[in-house]
Amino acid sequence: MEGEVAKVCPESYAMKGGEGPHSCAQNSASQRSSIEAAKNFLQSAIASKFDLRTICASSTNPICIADLGCSTGPNTFIAVQNVIEAIQIQCPSQQNHNQATPEILVFFNDQVSNDFNTLFQKLPPNRNYFAVGLPGSFYGRLFPRQSLHVVHSSAALSWLSELPKELTDTSSGACNKGKIFYTNAPKEVFDAYERRFKMDLEAFLQARAQELVDNGILACLILVADDLIDFSVDMYAGKDYELLGSCLMDMAKLGLISEEKVDTFNIPTFFPHVKDLMKIFEANKDFSIEQSELIDNKGFLAPNIESHVSRLRAVLEVLIEKHFGDGIVDELFDRFTEKVRAYPEVLDALKFKFHVLFVVLKRKVVIKA
Ligand SMILES: C[S@@+](CC[C@H](N)C(=O)[O-])C[C@H]1O[C@@H](n2cnc3c(N)ncnc32)[C@H](O)[C@@H]1O
Repeated sequence: MEGEVAKVCPESYAMKGGEGPHSCAQNSASQRSSIEAAKNFLQSAIASKFDLRTICASSTNPICIADLGCSTGPNTFIAVQNVIEAIQIQCPSQQNHNQATPEILVFFNDQVSNDFNTLFQKLPPNRNYFAVGLPGSFYGRLFPRQSLHVVHSSAALSWLSELPKELTDTSSGACNKGKIFYTNAPKEVFDAYERRFKMDLEAFLQARAQELVDNGILACLILVADDLIDFSVDMYAGKDYELLGSCLMDMAKLGLISEEKVDTFNIPTFFPHVKDLMKIFEANKDFSIEQSELIDNKGFLAPNIESHVSRLRAVLEVLIEKHFGDGIVDELFDRFTEKVRAYPEVLDALKFKFHVLFVVLKRKVVIKA
């Protein structure tokens, strides 16, 4: 395919499916709080930056929207409805013109291993759009050229396409033996994660630049780290993952899992500093930055230790089982709960130095030669 980014995600890190107590569906209140907090920004951005009349004049019905990294719902339905409401406010028929409201087609995208059955079963029955599930990694091309009008993505771009190889290379300064994340690790570990994140985000933008129509909108919610955090020394940032890593090491010492397995396990997420993330967007030639806001993160933290642990488990269980095999997650998360009880600061809003960045980009007009 001409112009294809041709990047296949070798790993699939879908969250826990179904609707059980540790499922993503039951443990996505943090993400929902940011989607809700961003609603007004999203709607005013679409109202002022998305010129429906021009877009409709230059492309055919329907209006196509994609939510990338949608998981199993319900958050994706809320996000999509927010986008649709904003578009409909602009519809000619709403403005008393004798024109039909454009039809809307929504693509729900996630990794191939995502539980799309749960997503389909929970699709709002009275929805005012056509719905399609689209499996595949958003780090490559997913849609035909210039076929999308609005792309939304929430809490998904932190997931790397793959782990940096250096993390498990014992001859590399970025070897992350005995740890599972970059916090309190050598700077080379952080740098390796950061390089991977930057390459992934650039691939994401390159793919979306091809798929969006001229002046199409890309709205993303991304978990970011305060610019002041120095991950190699900070006591609190990423403490969660450190505690989880220490539980795995405890289990290795007891012979319940092999130490080699712990050494080769790393969590494939990265939370960029705000200024570094903005630099990547600013350097991109295909999009203009229309709006960026740090969203109030008060709703992001769990109200108690049990739901905090359950939220982390929903995100990591599949990944952990895939690496260590079945039968360790209950014990691991029981141990983790005890460590969090002994270190409740991980739930302290004042020490939580992460934010959610809401950014709206607009596809620049492609000048045809
Ligand atoms: C934390 S969930 C967020 C779900 C939902 N957007 C929300 O805000 O509640 C992140 C989702 O991104 C998906 N994801 C991660 N990497 C992806 C990729 N490369 N392509 C498509 N989806 C991906 C995961 O499978 C997961 O469902």
